[in-house]
Amino acid sequence: MTHRVALLPGDGVGPEVIAEARRAVDALGLSLEWTELLWGSAHWHEHGRMMPADALETLDAHDAVLMGAIGDPSVPDHVSLWGLVLEIRQRLDLWANVRPARLLEGVPCPLAGRGPADVDMLFLRENTEGEYSGIGGRAHQGLGAEVAIESSVFTREGVERVIRHAFEVASGRRGVVTSATKSNASRYGYVLWDEVADEISAGFPGVRYERVLVDALAARMVRDPASLDVVVASNLFGDILTDLAAAIQGGMGMAASANVAPGSQRPGLFEPVHGSAPDIAGRGIANPAGAIWSAVLLLEHLGEREASEALMRALEDVCRDGPRTRDLGGEANTAEVGAAVVERLG
Ligand code: NAI
Ligand code: MG
Repeated sequence: MTHRVALLPGDGVGPEVIAEARRAVDALGLSLEWTELLWGSAHWHEHGRMMPADALETLDAHDAVLMGAIGDPSVPDHVSLWGLVLEIRQRLDLWANVRPARLLEGVPCPLAGRGPADVDMLFLRENTEGEYSGIGGRAHQGLGAEVAIESSVFTREGVERVIRHAFEVASGRRGVVTSATKSNASRYGYVLWDEVADEISAGFPGVRYERVLVDALAARMVRDPASLDVVVASNLFGDILTDLAAAIQGGMGMAASANVAPGSQRPGLFEPVHGSAPDIAGRGIANPAGAIWSAVLLLEHLGEREASEALMRALEDVCRDGPRTRDLGGEANTAEVGAAVVERLG
């Protein structure tokens, strides 16, 4: 069976890192067919929208999507984000955003005295509702009385499925679920979140469950990352905590993510956590590790376990032995790192 994978390089450094991820996957010699989709900011300038009207049907006809990043200084960020990434996550109902935050050997950690043994967290971010539901509005625009209202939406079903998944995943790891909350200050959404987490935890006696206020959790990630295994968080909290996690695992260029709907047949969307990095775009120096790691997650999603493990090993080898990009203290460019990963695949 041939896997059908949509390739969405996107903007800025997106195409630069995605080229290396594609090269690595191609080197594995799987039966896999790419469909390249040139959606993003250039598409918006030309057609007035970030992606075509039938984009979701197009994606749905594939087994998975590999994406770079979206965003360009010439397009307002809320337009590019809502016109593509958030639209895809919500409309394809990709409710789990899975982000492994593991420090690989050879990658410098900004936390003093910490090494790979201390940093192996897995973040599960709710991906379709919460603070990013898109509910709200503005009135009296441009006047002194201007008002903007933005509402969070938490549904029992939405909260339940992501928290349950966290417990399932933790059962196969070190058996700890930490739930990020802020139910002391926000009295409704996060209180429902906590209640659901309490209920679900009762069904997993083998998993230790703890509820931690998100601000304290941020501090604990820095002070004692080894105490964290699976962290489950709402859309906003997960977004923020995983940039912190990315920094702890060596920087934005290292972090990978999967947007998936576990248990469904829908295509997953796999993308590095970083954005389009306009400050370094076009120079060929972006770290492709997060994109290549995202391809590892994609292969796992396609059921190509052996290929997925082989690619992860190759990435680990290159991180340990070099070459490395500048963000990791090396001097190599994007393509040199990509080529080294392919070479390690043998
Ligand atoms: P960013 O992640 O693009 O960049 C933050 C910092 O990390 C920059 O200093 C950048 O140079 C560095 N960085 C990012 N990726 C790197 C890589 N692969 N190798 C080495 N260094 C890397 O975040 P920023 O600057 O806040 O956003 C830039 C644009 O990206 C905005 O338009 C934003 O809306 C968009 N964005 C898109 C996302 C997506 O497509 N899912 C996610 C985050 C931001
Ligand atoms: Mg983010």
